[in-house]
Amino acid sequence: MGEGTRAVSEEPDNPLLDGLPLLGDLPDLDGASVLVRVDFNVPLRSCGTEPSVVTDDFRIRAALPTIEYLLAQGASVTACTHLGRPAGCPDVQWDLGPVREVLSELAPQVELLENLRFDPGEEDNEPGFVEKLINGHDAYVNDAFGVSHRRHASIVGPPSRLPSAAGFLLQREIEALGGLLGSPARPFVAVVGGAKVSDKIGVLKALLQRVDTLVVGGGLAYTCLAAAGHDVGGSMIDEQRIPDCLSLLRSGRSIVLPTDIVALEPGAEFGPGCSEGDTRVVGADVPAGWMGLDIGPATVEAFSRVIKGAGTVLWNGPMGVFEDERFNAGTAGVARAVAECGGYTVVGGGDSVAAVDQLGLEGQVSFISTGGGASLELLEFGDLPGLAALRGASNAPPRKSDAKPVKLDP
Ligand code: 3PG
Ligand code: MG
Repeated sequence: MGEGTRAVSEEPDNPLLDGLPLLGDLPDLDGASVLVRVDFNVPLRSCGTEPSVVTDDFRIRAALPTIEYLLAQGASVTACTHLGRPAGCPDVQWDLGPVREVLSELAPQVELLENLRFDPGEEDNEPGFVEKLINGHDAYVNDAFGVSHRRHASIVGPPSRLPSAAGFLLQREIEALGGLLGSPARPFVAVVGGAKVSDKIGVLKALLQRVDTLVVGGGLAYTCLAAAGHDVGGSMIDEQRIPDCLSLLRSGRSIVLPTDIVALEPGAEFGPGCSEGDTRVVGADVPAGWMGLDIGPATVEAFSRVIKGAGTVLWNGPMGVFEDERFNAGTAGVARAVAECGGYTVVGGGDSVAAVDQLGLEGQVSFISTGGGASLELLEFGDLPGLAALRGASNAPPRKSDAKPVKLDP
C-alpha cells in the first residue's frame, strides 16, 4: 500500500487517523503552490565568529519524502519553520542561514520562509499572521510533528483556510505513536528523563495510567527522590513540584527510581568538555553540596532489566548530562538496553535520539520520533492541536466513528 493513501487511516485501532486528511486527500496539485510547515528546529553549533552549522540534519531529512512527493505532483513548495525560541523579533542567533544551506543541498527547489518566531503573530496565533502565511498558496501541509502540540499560527491557522493534509512524516509519527495509545504489547515501560520537572509532571501522571512501569531518570529523578525523603545534596530540583512527585509515588503504581547516582563535587563545573572536579558514585542520597548528574551503574543495570523485559518501550529524555562525558554512561546504558529489547521500542526527544545515533543503534529501535514534547503530549492528551486543526479542513474525509480521539483524564 502506498504512503498517503486513505486505506492507512482505516486502521480501526488508531482514532487519531480518523477524519485526518492525508496527502492523497489534497486536490490536484499540478501547478499549485503548497505551503508546508516543517520542524527544522535543529541543533546548531557556533564556533566564535564563524557562522553556525547544523550538527544534526535528522529533522530536515525527515521532511524530504513529503517535499519530494509534492514536487513530483507538479507543485511548487514553500517551507516554513521556527528555529529556537526567539522573542517574537529577528535575532541573529536564530537566523535560518545554516538551515537554508542544508536544505539547498537536499532540496534546492524549495523556498524557505523567514524563522516564523521572528514575528509575534506566530506564537500568539494572530489571524493577520495566518493570512500573511497562506497568501499566494493553494494548499497547506503540516509535516511538523515536533511542534504540533503548539497552538501556533502556522500549525492551527491554515487548515481552516486552505485544503490541508498531514505530510508523510506526521502520518508516520501518528501511526507509530498512536499504537502506544491503543493496545500496546505488555509490559509497557516508559522511561522518562530530562531536566524540566514542571514540563513533564502532567505527562508522568498520564503515563502512569497507561504503562505498567514508569522508570524515572535524569533531572526529574532528583525531585522524585527528594519527595521520597532522600537527601539530594546540591542536585537541581523543583521544590514546588515535590507534592506532585509525592502523589505520583503514592499512586500505588510501579515507579522505578535511581538507587545510585554519579555526583560532582561542590563548586565544580559541568558541561561539554569539562573535566575538572571529583566525581563519585553515591547511593540514593547525595552528600551536601554534591550534585547528581547521572544515574549510577547499579541503576543502569536495574533500568536495563526492566527495559529488556518490556513488550513496549517509550523512552524520552536523557538520564544525565549526556554532553559531559563523565555523565553520559547512564544515557548510553539505557540506549543499549532499548536497542536490545525485543519489543516495540520508541525513542523521542533530541538528546535521547542523539544518544542512540552516537552509539550507532538507530537501526535497532523500532521507531525514532522527531518529536520530544509533542510525543509526550500526544500520550498525555490523546490528541494534538495540530491534528485537530487538520481534521477541521474543508477537504478532510468524513469521520467513521463518533468517538473522539482517545481522551484521558489527566
Ligand atoms: C522541539 O524542538 O521540541 C520542537 O521544535 C518544538 O520547539 P519548542 O519546544 O520551542 O516549541
Ligand atoms: Mg522542545
